[in-house]
Parts: sequence; C-alpha cells; structure tokens
Amino acid sequence: LREIAVDLGKKTYPIYIGIGILDTIGTLFCHHKISKKLVLITDETVKNLYAEKVIKILEDSNFLITEIVVPVGENSKSLEIVDSVFERIINARIDRESSIVALGGGVIGDLSGFIAATYMRGISYVQIPTTLLAQTDSSVGGKVGINHRLGKNLIGAFYQPKFVIIDAEVLKTLDQRDLISGLGEVIKYGLIGDKNFFKKVSDNFDDLLNKSNLSLYEEIIDHCCRIKAKIVAEDEKESGLRKILNFGHTIGHALEAATNYEYYRHGEAVILGMIAINWLSYELNLLSQNEFNQINAFFDMFPNLNIPAEIFLKDILEKTYFDKKFTNNKICLILLKEIGETIILENFEERNLMYAINYLLKERQQ
Ligand SMILES: NC(=O)c1ccc[n+]([C@@H]2O[C@H](COP(=O)([O-])OP(=O)(O)OC[C@H]3O[C@@H](n4cnc5c(N)ncnc54)[C@H](O)[C@@H]3O)[C@@H](O)[C@H]2O)c1
Repeated sequence: LREIAVDLGKKTYPIYIGIGILDTIGTLFCHHKISKKLVLITDETVKNLYAEKVIKILEDSNFLITEIVVPVGENSKSLEIVDSVFERIINARIDRESSIVALGGGVIGDLSGFIAATYMRGISYVQIPTTLLAQTDSSVGGKVGINHRLGKNLIGAFYQPKFVIIDAEVLKTLDQRDLISGLGEVIKYGLIGDKNFFKKVSDNFDDLLNKSNLSLYEEIIDHCCRIKAKIVAEDEKESGLRKILNFGHTIGHALEAATNYEYYRHGEAVILGMIAINWLSYELNLLSQNEFNQINAFFDMFPNLNIPAEIFLKDILEKTYFDKKFTNNKICLILLKEIGETIILENFEERNLMYAINYLLKERQQ
C-alpha cells in the first residue's frame, strides 16, 4: 500500500494507493475512527460495479450505510440533485457525526464533497475515486462543487476529505473514452511540471490504452497525486501556484458548456484546451517549435477528438466569460515555456484567447 500525505497543517490527510485495496477499506475506516453512520453516494454505473461490494465490506465492519444513487454524468452536479440528496439525508436523520463516502468518478466526488461541505455547515467525507481522472486529479485537493446552468463549477468550496482510497484495479472496467479523458489530466502534470513524466507517459501510451499493466497505472497515479499534493500544500486556495493546474481548462470548460455538457468527457475537452494553448504558447514565442511539435504529436495519438460543426467561435468565447479565471474583463491564462514549465499570465487580452480558439476550430472542427 502506497501512502502520500497532503500536508495542510491540521487538515493534513493521507491518500492510499494500491491494487485490490478496496477489500481493506473496513480496516482503513476503523483506523481513521470514522463514525458508524455513513452516507455512500454513487452513480448508477458504479453502483452495479462496486457499490454493493463496498457496502458489504463496510457493513461487515459494523458500519450503517444509507446509499444514494444519482444519474450518471455531469448533469448530476446540479442544484436539483443537491436538493434531492439533502432531502434523502435529512430524512435518514444523518447527523453532524456522520460521514459521506464518495464512490465514483469526478462528478460523484465533486457533488459529494459539496454536500459534505454544506450539510450542517460541514461533515466529514472520504473519497474513493473510481475513474482515472478522479484518481489522479479531482479527488485530491479539496475542490468541491457543482455547476450552474450559466457555467461550470461556479458554486462550491475548498473542503478537504478525511482520506482518499485509490484502487487501480477498478480501472479494468473503465471504458476507452473515460480512460482517454483521464490520460488528458495525467499528461497535464507532465506538461506543467515534469518533462520526464511527459516522456514516460508518451513512451508507454499503447500499454496505458490497452490497460495491459496495472502496476504502471499504480505508479502513474502515485506520481500525479504527489505532484498535486505538493502544489495543494503550497497553495490550498489557488491564490498563486495552484493556478497552473488549470492549464487548458479555460477553453476546455467553455467547450463543455457550449455543448451542454453532453458531448465531451471532461478530460477530452481539456485535451482540446491544451492543444489550443500549446499553439498559443508557440505563437507568442514562449515555446520552441520542436516542443510544440512534440506535444502535438502526442495529442495526435488520441483518436477522434473534435468539435461539432454547429459550434462557432462566439459560442465558445461567450462561455469563457463565465470562467472563474475571468476578473475585470481580463483573464488569467497558463501558458507553456517548455515541456515541464509554465508561465502564468494575468491580465491576458481576450483577443489572444480568440486566436487560440480559432486555431482549434481550424484544426479540429468536423
Ligand atoms: N475537484 C477537482 O479538483 C476536479 C478536477 C478535475 C475534474 N473535476 C470534475 O470531475 C468531473 C469529471 O470526472 P470523471 O471524468 O471521473 O466523470 P464521471 O464521474 O462522470 O465518470 C465518468 C464515467 O465513468 C463511469 N465510471 C466511474 N468509475 C468507473 C469504473 N471504475 N468502471 C467503469 N465505469 C466507471 C461513470 O459512471 C461515468 O459514466 C467533472 O465534473 C470535472 O469538473 C474536478
């Protein structure tokens, strides 16, 4: 069992990583003195795959569980679903001492964390992420939240979990698109902070895609969590360094919103966002042509990432205004200086964003 500490003073917590470690969660819950009354939140797919098993293991360790199953997909990060979950937990007499368990992908983690942060002004929660994206990114760092119809993740909090349990074995059932989506966030760590890691992921891309080596995944998850834990420990509330984790996300989020959160997996949209920013970094003479080409060659290995024909520049641009990185009509953008090194540009001119989106449309529109 690997263990990484997210070092946040009194709020410090561990991330446990392994293969097949779901079987040991009863012990981990007891070790962390989690109260016996739990609410397990999951989605319909993960319910069938893993929730029954997890509930059985926890019940065998004398935990009492209220299970809440929400529909699959981004639309579950909504005020309507939050309302229905609150109704269930109030009716189940969930009290301040109880804990929430988030079992699922990033949608479940963000939603459950938000419920935990706000129910009775905050109760504790545990993350058990089951997608590659959630295991390498969203379950770590305490950003929790939901979407508003006008924009993504606009309602939320910074609220850290008690601990995170990551079992690479569950990736076996993940479909190809969700794997690619997760690999998008994985490669982000290489691009923003670690050239060797970028190379490792590129060199092993085929093995990663066909999931032939779960130990490699365990290693990669460990590496991503270490990078994220370090960044979060330095800048929990995103006043500086943590912003680099948003690399590619402004355009990515806008693409998701412009397509009503129905066309892309989150990481797919972020990959397109990174393709656009890679070009912009090169155009602004920050990034060398050689590295620009290397990054493009990597992204060309992802099959079928495109923008639907009915989406126009203005649809995407309009959605970027609702991005949290927009203040006083100027945007903060993360650009690349080289593979592994970023530059944070505050007060960025909107027209540059427009050029980058135009490039993306030219390259990737169907
Ligand atoms: N909080 C953060 O810091 C942060 C960071 C990045 C992304 N996010 C958020 O994460 C969300 C995206 O997360 P996601 O991509 O995990 O989406 P998701 O939760 O919708 O999961 C994707 C799909 O995988 C299925 N699934 C989950 N685990 C599975 C498994 N083991 N086997 C088979 N199927 C499985 C789900 O049912 C779903 O259909 C977005 O809402 C995004 O905004 C948050």
